[in-house]
Amino acid sequence: MAKELKIAPSLLSANFANLGGDVEKINHSEADWLHLDVMDGVFVPNISFGFPVLKAVAQMSEKPLDVHLMIVEPQKFIPQIKELGTMMMNVHYEACPHLHRVVQQIKEAGMKAGVTLNPATPVAMLSDIIEDLDMVLLMSVNPGFGGQKFIPHTLRKIQELRELIERSGSHALVEIDGGVNLQTAPLLAEAGVDVLVAGSAVFKAPDMIEIIHQLKNV
Ligand code: DX5
Ligand code: ZN
Repeated sequence: MAKELKIAPSLLSANFANLGGDVEKINHSEADWLHLDVMDGVFVPNISFGFPVLKAVAQMSEKPLDVHLMIVEPQKFIPQIKELGTMMMNVHYEACPHLHRVVQQIKEAGMKAGVTLNPATPVAMLSDIIEDLDMVLLMSVNPGFGGQKFIPHTLRKIQELRELIERSGSHALVEIDGGVNLQTAPLLAEAGVDVLVAGSAVFKAPDMIEIIHQLKNV
């Protein structure tokens, strides 16, 4: 039997007029983590939510927090992200000229360290840091918005990443973010990913609990 996928619903597509209700539903689902997308309007052409919202959500969530920072200079916010009780802090490769230092700082703060790659960034850029990483998050859309179409060449990148992880003896998990739904999830499972982020597929579904169950068992 294939290994079990972890599912991380992305709150970006939730009903912001009833965030508490949506977090509550995730709490009662088979979701493994809660994925929180922070955008600054600089690194990506959109703004999502900041610390007041993150704090309220963190207090309600019974799922470990997987925080995806789409911001410049993410290292500035390590203490505040830790303060939320974050399990995994993901920074973008493209936003960190001193990535090695940032990864060490995240781990010293007591969090797991994830590095995210945009669709146009080759997996090989991580070859000198892969052993230090707890996770690699491959973007399968250009970051900034929910509801976009999955970019198919991500499947080839997953294969390259798995090879890099195996070669280096790294324990990094592979997470995919963007355009994940019941059509793309089976391909991703087959390609060997560990964690699927799903925003619109979960929060726009008529039954969130059921869709999470289905994604987990593709
Ligand atoms: C996009 C975010 C995603 C987003 C995914 O920049 O990083 O987490 O919520 O949305 P879907 O699953 O709708 O593609
Ligand atoms: Zn994300």
